[in-house]
Amino acid sequence: MNIIKVKDYEALSEKACEYLIDRIRAVEKTVLGLATGSTPEGLYKRLIEKYREGNVSFKDVTTFNLDEYVGLKKEDPNSYYYFMKDKLFNHIDVEMENVYLPKGVVADLEGECSEYERLIQTAGNIDVQILGLGLNGHIGFNEPGTAFSSRTHIVELDASTREANARFFDSIDEVPTQAITMGIETIMESKEIVLLVSGEKKAEAVKQLIEGEVSEDFPATVLRNHDKVTLIADEGALGKV
Ligand code: GLP
Repeated sequence: MNIIKVKDYEALSEKACEYLIDRIRAVEKTVLGLATGSTPEGLYKRLIEKYREGNVSFKDVTTFNLDEYVGLKKEDPNSYYYFMKDKLFNHIDVEMENVYLPKGVVADLEGECSEYERLIQTAGNIDVQILGLGLNGHIGFNEPGTAFSSRTHIVELDASTREANARFFDSIDEVPTQAITMGIETIMESKEIVLLVSGEKKAEAVKQLIEGEVSEDFPATVLRNHDKVTLIADEGALGKV
């Protein structure tokens, strides 16, 4: 794993932005894997700035998001669809027909999982996947215990994940109990992965990621089996390694 250490969250967002723009320029018709959560917000802000300055275009970019809550409609402000439009897609020149997120409200959720896999494969797989890190080691919404061989699937969210995400909702009771997420094997098929981690509260998780045993008990450790992973982390997040 290639580790890029930066001072703080601002520097992390800047570095991630440079990295991504470089890949968008280098790879024709780039397929990006995108993530939600607070960590990539700074990256998205910077990408918008670079787009406005004329430094990058997303016209030929296709995007696939990692996950979506089950039961939240696209227009629900807490859906990841809404988040992505609000934080990125509404402000850049990406074609919405090239934007994909798993659908959280469909009659056939299992069918939606296979359809999402099919779409990723049809696009030729993900060139660069952005990831955040859950406190319990989850990537996407793959909670501890998820098989490394998993493909896009429906998950029951851990109590700790629902608590961590409750800050976006009026109360914890409103946090969905299920999500649809790319599987670990789906993520691992990305040609390149960029993991973003910021802040002291993630320091223990980063230690586990780098020094712990590679195990389904801490899903992110699987990334050590991938030959092109870059961890961009700040001093706080790297404080225990
Ligand atoms: C959420 C998302 C993940 C994200 C993680 C960390 O539950 N499903 O994709 O990476 O938790 O979030 P944050 O960046 O807010 O710490």
